Amino acid sequence: MKTDLLANKTVIVTAGGTQEAIDPVRFIGNRSSGKMGYAIAEQAALAGARTILISAPTNLPVPFGVELVSVESARAMEEAVNSRYEACDAVIMAAAVADFRVENMADTKIKKMDTLELKLVKNPDILKGLGANKTHQKLIGFAAETQNVIEYGKSKVLNKNLDMLVANDVSKQNAGFNVDTNEVTLIYPGGQVRPLPLMTKIDVAKRIISALAEL
Ligand code: PMT
Repeated sequence: MKTDLLANKTVIVTAGGTQEAIDPVRFIGNRSSGKMGYAIAEQAALAGARTILISAPTNLPVPFGVELVSVESARAMEEAVNSRYEACDAVIMAAAVADFRVENMADTKIKKMDTLELKLVKNPDILKGLGANKTHQKLIGFAAETQNVIEYGKSKVLNKNLDMLVANDVSKQNAGFNVDTNEVTLIYPGGQVRPLPLMTKIDVAKRIISALAEL
């Protein structure tokens, strides 16, 4: 349903799992389907925001009224977000960004061998950088955890200077990666915690957009 909750606002949403190249045909990836981020982008657009979806590769159709920026790696996603940050009102980071990349990508396909050692180096933390350079923007991050969800979430919301964090326990069935439902807890920098029941990712997205409008 259309609303004007975010009329005249520009919202950046990130989605999907970044891909870190090993050689021209192989990459290191993760299990993100993009469903959570795409649902948020759709709801942001329905709430009247100019919505820019910065997406790692997915198989999903672009939601109506959403501007798509396609990226592959964490560093490409960082560049795409940072270059649009100043002009936006909010960023919602639902993407599963790889924490590591291969230090030296091979220029040609690596031939079969008995063992292969890859040296991984740390990727930038995009969200932390956004938090450090925040001026007027509202910043919403996600936390994919498998234990101590609330405790880790509370420390992430503060460490990354966020306005809200959406914590999901990705070890639960029907929550997290590559399913149509999610069970999340909204965590605020003041320590407030709002657990939400299991619901479709579309409904989770609606709750996140309402919470953003409240911020
Ligand atoms: O795409 P789906 O299949 O629908 O799955 C949804 C989801 C499980 C991917 C989503 O709900 C989710 O939890 N996304 C965040 C996954 C993640 O990377 O969590 P994290 O706890 O590792 O990272 C914390 C936050 O920092 C996230 O907002 C992440 O986007 C951001 N981050 C992480 C690493 C990094 N190098 N840069 C970042 O900006």
